[in-house]
Amino acid sequence: MAETTALWGGRFKEAMDEIAHRFSSSIAFDSKLWREDIQGSIAHARMLGETGIISREEAHAIVRGLEQIAGEIERGEFQFDASMEDVHLAIERRLMENIGAAGGKLHTGRSRNDQVATDERLYLKRAVPDLSETITLVMRELLRKSEAYPDAIMPGYTHLQRAQPILLAHHFLAYLEMFARDRERMEDVLRRIDRSPLGAAAFAGTSYPIDRAQAATALGFRSVLSNSIDAVSDRDYLIELSAACSIVMMHLSRMAEELVIWSTREFGFISMSDAVTTGSSIMPQKKNPDMAELIRGNVGAVYGTLVNVLTTMKALPLAYNRDMQQDKPPMFEAIETTRNSLEMMALVLRETVFHPHRMEAAVRRDYLMATELADYLARKGVPFREAHHMTGSIVAHAEELGRSLEELTLEEYRTFSSKFDADVFSYLDPRRSLEEKKSLGSTNPRMVREAMEAWRTRLY
Ligand code: ARG
Repeated sequence: MAETTALWGGRFKEAMDEIAHRFSSSIAFDSKLWREDIQGSIAHARMLGETGIISREEAHAIVRGLEQIAGEIERGEFQFDASMEDVHLAIERRLMENIGAAGGKLHTGRSRNDQVATDERLYLKRAVPDLSETITLVMRELLRKSEAYPDAIMPGYTHLQRAQPILLAHHFLAYLEMFARDRERMEDVLRRIDRSPLGAAAFAGTSYPIDRAQAATALGFRSVLSNSIDAVSDRDYLIELSAACSIVMMHLSRMAEELVIWSTREFGFISMSDAVTTGSSIMPQKKNPDMAELIRGNVGAVYGTLVNVLTTMKALPLAYNRDMQQDKPPMFEAIETTRNSLEMMALVLRETVFHPHRMEAAVRRDYLMATELADYLARKGVPFREAHHMTGSIVAHAEELGRSLEELTLEEYRTFSSKFDADVFSYLDPRRSLEEKKSLGSTNPRMVREAMEAWRTRLY
């Protein structure tokens, strides 16, 4: 049943249509914001009392009443149900039931338009740092893995074709850097979330002598949004957040994809423990990397939140429009799915062992040292382009014979170029090629160790 006497009943003679009520009620999802709603109302009531807009006794009664409702909700004594329109009205109505007429003064100088924006920002002020912390969990796990396999060497890939040898730790640290930027993005979004819309009222402000700064400080906001229309009209902070979450998910999906590929018999680079894999109901030998797949599978939902909020906001005339009510499911979805996926990735990493010997075998069995061979010739004065071409022919030749680069003889090398000497073979050692790397940020083991060291002081 819809509430027959809406809080705006004065203007209306008839109750809202039942179907329209059901269609427009947001209580099913916005009741999640009850804590923030009560927190915001308490700050508002205190401010009304302190500025003398309502009496101190009234303010006190309202605050006590709101605290009582919080207790009731926590104990399950007050439950939200489908007859309610939204969390704001449900709590305000309950307040009036509990404390009588004084409850009706809470909404002085305020509108649900600034109230809902305040609730969301308060919610995000908690949720976003929490999300950042979960990103840190994955970063720590990546660092731990690089510390567990500091010397492991593997083929680096481009186009998923074996390309050049790298340290596994260098690969882990690449992801670590990406997640570090994700964390920065969260901190950056948070700066813009952390501004109070409260007191903008419906959108034009209010003639009551409210003190917006005081309420904002009480709520822990860094500052107050300066334009009342802007304060209730925009959801750009949700769009930024969804974008930041989408980027996190994109990074997670790449890692998840690699873990899936690396766990195949064909690669055999890793094994995931029973704790994070599943069996098949028909094929007894199977051990499936479902958790990694589900992380990858969650990406669509989070990208969806970005398109969702962007599209909801597109072309909306200022100021508030009811369309904006629909911003909450994507907000919760972005936060929760990203958070859960990060948490899962940290666990999957912890539960995965890497097989350095298999990775090293993949480095040695192929032509990954071809770049080094070209560099060798170039260092002896052959222009790099020519050296590249020559090395290509050598690889083709070796491939034809079914041999590796180490298995060619010096005489064979010399048929391609007189620049080849016996020292060429030492250049074909992948470990040596790593040590030879000079450029900053390269896979040179010393540099990788330094990077690990730097991250250790920042992450532990
Ligand atoms: N449930 C609404 C929302 O989430 C609250 C604001 C309603 N304001 C209004 N003028 N109808 O957007």
